Amino acid sequence: MAFKVTFHFSYKFRLLLLFTLGMMVVGWATSNYIVGAIQEIPKAKDFMANFNKAIIWGTEGTVTEEAPKTKANLESCPSPSPYLKGQNKLIFKPDLTLEDVQAENTKVHRGRYHPEDCKAAQRVAILIPHRNREKHLLYLLEHLHPFLQRQQLDYGIYIINQAGSKKFNRAKLLNVGYLEALKDENWDCFIFHDVDLVPENDFNLYTCEDQPKHLVVGRNSTGYRLRYSGYFGGVTALSREQFFKVNGFSNNYWGWGGEDDDLRLRVELQRMKITRPLPEVGKYTMIFHTRDRGNEVNKDRMKLLHQVSKVWRTDGLSSCIYKLLSVDYNPLYINLTVDFWSDP
Ligand SMILES: *[C@@H]1O[C@H](CO)[C@@H](O)[C@H](O)[C@H]1NC(C)=O
Repeated sequence: MAFKVTFHFSYKFRLLLLFTLGMMVVGWATSNYIVGAIQEIPKAKDFMANFNKAIIWGTEGTVTEEAPKTKANLESCPSPSPYLKGQNKLIFKPDLTLEDVQAENTKVHRGRYHPEDCKAAQRVAILIPHRNREKHLLYLLEHLHPFLQRQQLDYGIYIINQAGSKKFNRAKLLNVGYLEALKDENWDCFIFHDVDLVPENDFNLYTCEDQPKHLVVGRNSTGYRLRYSGYFGGVTALSREQFFKVNGFSNNYWGWGGEDDDLRLRVELQRMKITRPLPEVGKYTMIFHTRDRGNEVNKDRMKLLHQVSKVWRTDGLSSCIYKLLSVDYNPLYINLTVDFWSDP
């Protein structure tokens, strides 16, 4: 019996030894393989270099035709763009029409544009929530298209209209814009843009950086000062990943105010830090208007702002329910119309 037990142990032990030895062999073989692979790379590089040289030598003395410039083989656009003009005096002509703006922007197709002779640094979707502000929209389109083209961006402009007569929900419209725009293109960067703010200085780049960016440092209506410390409204730039990380905007802000502070809290909860351009660069003209009907001040906003840390995971992109009534690819913008039928 005792012998049997010993035998049993030693059998197990031998099995273990065999297994360990086997693993060592496998380990040795793979490590050798990995080292081998690393050593292969420079060889492959050398080979490619020689190969390229051979091509260059081979074509010397012959007339070579330049490869056609497709989007894939273009060089990156220079930074900064040579077309920037800086501060610009904005003029709003009372008799401007959409046809006028279209005639000025013949290179924009179905709301989109990209530089022809270089590769843009980022693909940028401009999202503009909208209801009954046709004149403001016209002025914004008139200025924004040439502004973005001077920055040499690959961009698309989305107007997200709220149908029906419920209170306006800017934040939820922007969530819809983000979700729908990503069906067209894997945009790198999103600009969340009020319809009544027009940028004055094209050094204010509509691109995303490693932190969320607030672009409206000042507007003519506040004497070009930040409305309050921590203000994160008007026009903001978040990358696709940054906006996804905070679960987008809250869907629960009906009427005016609060949703931008809510987004700031979400950004801060993710330990991201808001950046801004210099005051002389982040300047906007606010086109005058009175408060619209259906966009009255949201009296619940303070209560909602106290709950952000508890609800942000479940209230946002992940819970944005809407009815998409139409998508129209107009010459100068992509027009989405949505209905929030189930809400107050
Ligand atoms: C800001 O400029 C716009 C356009 O010129 C004008 O409509 C608006 O009244 C101005 N606001 C203030 C407060 O000066």
